[in-house]
Amino acid sequence: MKRIFFVYGLLSMFLTAPVWAAGDAAAGKLKTASCAGCHGQDGAGLPNLGPQLDGSDWVTGSEDRLVKILIHGLTDPIMINGKSFTPLAFMPGLGVNPAIKDRDIADISTFIRANWTNRAAQVTEATVTRIRKETSNRSAGQMYSQKDFPVKK
Ligand code: HEC
Repeated sequence: MKRIFFVYGLLSMFLTAPVWAAGDAAAGKLKTASCAGCHGQDGAGLPNLGPQLDGSDWVTGSEDRLVKILIHGLTDPIMINGKSFTPLAFMPGLGVNPAIKDRDIADISTFIRANWTNRAAQVTEATVTRIRKETSNRSAGQMYSQKDFPVKK
C-alpha cells in the first residue's frame, strides 16, 4: 500500500501540466523534482546514482537523442563529454508512465537545457510527439545504450 502512495505521489507531480505548445522551463523545473533524486538539485550529479546534467553533451547536444533516452531510458556505460561513465544502475524511461505526456517531456527537456550553465534551445511538444511515434516499435522498458548513438570519430 505504501508503495502505491509513493507512486501516486510521483505521478501527481506530473499531473499539473499547463498546455502551452513550446517547452516551458518554469513548468519543467517542477517536473524535474524526481530527476534531482539521482542527478542532484544542482545538476552536478550524485555519486553512484546519476551523472551530471549541468554541462553534459547529452543534455545540450542532440535534442532527438535527449528525448529518446527520456522516453525509453538509458543503460550501460556511456561517454559524457568524451569521458567514459559507468553507471551502477540504469535510468528508467518516462514513456512507460501514461501520466507523463509529451508536453511534460518537452518541459523537462527545455528546463534542463536552459538551467545551470546550460544554454541550449527549447524542445517543443511536437518534437516529442514525433520521436515517440518514430520509436514506437521499441517495447516497453527497452532502454537505449551508447551503441544506439555512435560517437563521431
Ligand atoms: C533512478 C535514478 C534516475 C532518475 C530518477 C533519473 N535519472 Fe537520468 N540517469 C540515471 C543514470 C544512472 C544515468 C546513466 C545511464 C547510463 O550511463 O547508461 C542517467 C543518465 C541521464 C542522462 C544522460 C547522461 C547525462 O547525465 O547527461 C540524462 C540527460 C538524464 N539522465 C536526464 C534525466 C532526467 C531529465 C530525469 C528526470 C525526468 C532523470 N534523468 C531521472 C539515473 C536517473
